[in-house]
Amino acid sequence: MTSKTIAQIRNEAAASLSPERQQQWEQFLTPAPVAEQAASLFTPTCNPVRILDLGSGSGILSAVTAKRSSHGSSVVAIEQDPALAADSEASLRQVCDDVEVINKSIFDVLLESSFDRVILNPPYKKISPTVIVTSGGGVKVTNLYAAFLVTAIQALASGGECVAIIPRSWMNGDYFKDFRKWMLSKCSLDVLAVYESRQEHFKDMNILQEIMLVKVSKQPQTKKVTVYADAMPVGSLERQPHESVALKALLMGRDRIVRVRQQDPRLSNFRTMADQGLWVSTGKLVWFRNRDVLSDVEEPDGHPLYWSDNQDGMVTVHPVECDREQWVTNKADSRKVVLPAGSYCLVNRFSAKEQRHRIYASYLRSGVGFVADNKLNYVHQGTSRQTVPLDDKAARGLTLWLSSSIIDEWYRQVSGSTQVNATDLRQMPCPTKNQLATLSDLLPVSNDVGQDRIDETIERLFSWA
Ligand SMILES: C[S@@+](CC[C@H](N)C(=O)[O-])C[C@H]1O[C@@H](n2cnc3c(N)ncnc32)[C@H](O)[C@@H]1O
Repeated sequence: MTSKTIAQIRNEAAASLSPERQQQWEQFLTPAPVAEQAASLFTPTCNPVRILDLGSGSGILSAVTAKRSSHGSSVVAIEQDPALAADSEASLRQVCDDVEVINKSIFDVLLESSFDRVILNPPYKKISPTVIVTSGGGVKVTNLYAAFLVTAIQALASGGECVAIIPRSWMNGDYFKDFRKWMLSKCSLDVLAVYESRQEHFKDMNILQEIMLVKVSKQPQTKKVTVYADAMPVGSLERQPHESVALKALLMGRDRIVRVRQQDPRLSNFRTMADQGLWVSTGKLVWFRNRDVLSDVEEPDGHPLYWSDNQDGMVTVHPVECDREQWVTNKADSRKVVLPAGSYCLVNRFSAKEQRHRIYASYLRSGVGFVADNKLNYVHQGTSRQTVPLDDKAARGLTLWLSSSIIDEWYRQVSGSTQVNATDLRQMPCPTKNQLATLSDLLPVSNDVGQDRIDETIERLFSWA
């Protein structure tokens, strides 16, 4: 028996990872305090349990789980890296007599639905859309971690529990829509714990995404989900602030977006942007596929081209001095990228971390047909197939609404990433077009208007004060 502790084996394995393989197989090993918190989410039981660890690395997650489980429990750990598989064996042998380490890809192992506890910190890698075959047909996944989680959930016995350490990205956006719907239909969502700081918990692993713990179980949905919206990766999780919330209060819309907090009650009387007849689309010009139409100068019959560089606070300026072409030639007319003249609200799809607001909205009134770069979203009152400009006052009012603090806070609770998705925006609570027009009468869309004035005017208009 080795004299090294499970944490020592993990630390030594982390220090000796080959950079190429680490990248290729996404080897980010869970530090001991996070492993303890993850394993603590399983319901204690006096009965022996069957434990499964998918992509086990040094084996830390299943070893900690086995250590907390009753005598007679067993572990199956699957790890495709031979060196890490040996580390898993060494870790697990210290805490459990019945251990099987399988040195293969999890996708090459046939697993029965027989496990009481499944624990995993899977690779977080984007993949081209792939359908994973399930008992009820299939589920489309776009990331390896979703593929691992589908496999994990399928391996659960009835009443079994699964704890996963994954990024927060599955909770919103289009890419994880199918996965979200599938998971919520197959099991009970029991615990969500979102780590508030990005760097703290995987300090030696250089992980920049927002990471969370999720616990699901193979049983009908429990009455309340336990939510730790600002978890800290130290000490016991139980003692940290948390809420018990009905799942319904966390879910939004047909796309089943999952929030980490209940919505601010001041927003509960508003319908969603989509329900108010507003549609969010993504700019149609992908510049590197349309290099031949970009132009530094205005040409006869050409069109102005807007990038995020043209956003200047709440207003839009064109042309601007920057290293991007400000026009397209009339060749663009045949490429379905030109939008009709009129009023819009432009929203940047990629905000910078240091930016004060996640949502950066700017009012645009164009007297001519124009083109929007693909890194911008634009709000109009048409459909996914047809762009119809907004009434001018509604466009102004919407820009003010999207620039408010309450909406910024709302968006942060929906999305942990700096990307601003059209799908999420469509679910955003929004006043009616008439109310937006009234808002635009109360306040000019101008960069001289400060945040306090925007927030106070909105508060007064909706009698929140
Ligand atoms: C993010 S690391 C986590 C390791 C370990 N579970 C932990 O928490 O420390 C993911 C692990 O999955 C392994 N892995 C990646 N793809 C795999 C696959 N298809 N089958 C099995 N293991 C895989 C990697 O080698 C790596 O050890």
